[in-house]
Amino acid sequence: MKKASQIISLAAVFVLIVALTAGCCKKNTQTMNVTQESFGMLADSTPVSLYTLTNDKGINMNVTNYGGIITSLMVPDKNGKSEDIVLGYDSLSGYLDKTPYFGAIVGRYGNRIAKGAFRIDGNEFHLPINDGPNHLHGGIQGFDKVVWDAKEFKTDSTVGLVLHYLSKDTEMGYPGNLDVTVTYSLNNNNELRFDYLATTDKPTPVNLTQHSYFNLAGDGDIKEQEMLIKASKYTVVDSLLIPTGELRDVKGTPFDFTAAKPIGKDLEATGGNPIGYDHNFVLDTKGLEEVAIKVTEPKSGRVMEVYTQEPGVQFYSGNFLDGTIKGKGGKVYKQYSGFCLETQHFPDSPNHAAFPNTILRPGEKYKTTTIYKFSK
Ligand code: GLA
Repeated sequence: MKKASQIISLAAVFVLIVALTAGCCKKNTQTMNVTQESFGMLADSTPVSLYTLTNDKGINMNVTNYGGIITSLMVPDKNGKSEDIVLGYDSLSGYLDKTPYFGAIVGRYGNRIAKGAFRIDGNEFHLPINDGPNHLHGGIQGFDKVVWDAKEFKTDSTVGLVLHYLSKDTEMGYPGNLDVTVTYSLNNNNELRFDYLATTDKPTPVNLTQHSYFNLAGDGDIKEQEMLIKASKYTVVDSLLIPTGELRDVKGTPFDFTAAKPIGKDLEATGGNPIGYDHNFVLDTKGLEEVAIKVTEPKSGRVMEVYTQEPGVQFYSGNFLDGTIKGKGGKVYKQYSGFCLETQHFPDSPNHAAFPNTILRPGEKYKTTTIYKFSK
C-alpha cells in the first residue's frame, strides 16, 4: 500500500516537472541563420527582397531592402513566448501606400530642418518642404523610400545585412554625392546593432537614424511600459517641433525620465498638438559602454536597452497615429500604439551653431553605432 502511494507521488512530481518545464521554458529550436526571399516589386518593376535574420536565442527579424525597413521583430517574453514587437505592414504595398516611417532608415537628415533652409560656408540650400512649413526626415523621398543594395552575411556569432545607397548630388535638395552604408547585425547576446557609415564629395548635413515603432507587449498601448532615459536636458521646441535653441533641465518637467516611470505617467502634461512625447533628449551618456535608455514591459518582462554614440534621441510616443492605419494582421494603430527611440544629432542642427555639428565634409567619415539590446 505504502509502495503504491510512493509511486503515485513520484509520478505526480514527474508530471509537475514536465508541466513546469513545458510552461516556463519553451524550448527554442532555432539556430543562427540569414535567408532571403522576394518581397514583391515597385511600380517600375524594381525587385525588393525580404531577409530573415535569426539568432540562437529565439529572436527572429525580417528586414526589407526597401527603406531598410524592419518589418517584424519576434522577441521571446519571460515565458519563452515570442511576439512581434514592432509596428508595420504585412506586405510591401502597405509601405508603398502610406507609412509614418515604420521601421525605416531615416536620412539624409533625420528629423526637422526649419523651412528646409540652411547655409554651409555662406552658400544657401533649400530642401523640399513636407511637414507644415518645414523639412522632415530627408524629404518627400528620403532614405526610407528607396531601394538599397543589400548583401547578407553570417559569422560564428552574428548574422547581418549590409545595406548600401548612393544618394546623388542635389537629390532631395542636398549637396554632394553621399555614399551610405548601414549594417544591421544580430548576435547571440540579443543585440541588434546598427553601424552607419557615410562619405561625401561636397559638404552636406547628415543625420541618420532608425525609425522602428516598438511595443514591448506586442499589442495595446505603450502607456504602462516603463522608460528610463539618461538625459538631464532636452531641446525645447516651438509648436511645429523646431528647436528654439534652448536646452532645458528635465527636472520638474514631464520630460524627466532619469528615474524609470511609465510612459503614460506624465504624458498628458507634455501638452503639444497632438499631445505626447516628440522631443529630442540630450543624452548624458557617451559611447556604447553605458546604457542610455531602458524600457521595461511589466507583464511580459521584456526589456529593451539602447546603447549609442549619438548625442541625442528623439523619443516619439506615436502621437500622430490616429487609428486610420490598419497594419499587420488588420491591427488598427491608435495613438500611443508604439514608441520610437530615434538616436540622432539634434533636430535643425544646421541652423544652430551651438548644437553638435552635423555637417559632413569631403575626406571625413560619418561613422556612428547604435545598439538595441533585448532581455527578459
Ligand atoms: C518623428 C517626428 C514626429 C513624426 C514621426 C513620424 O518621430 O519627430 O514628429 O513626424 O517621426 O510620424
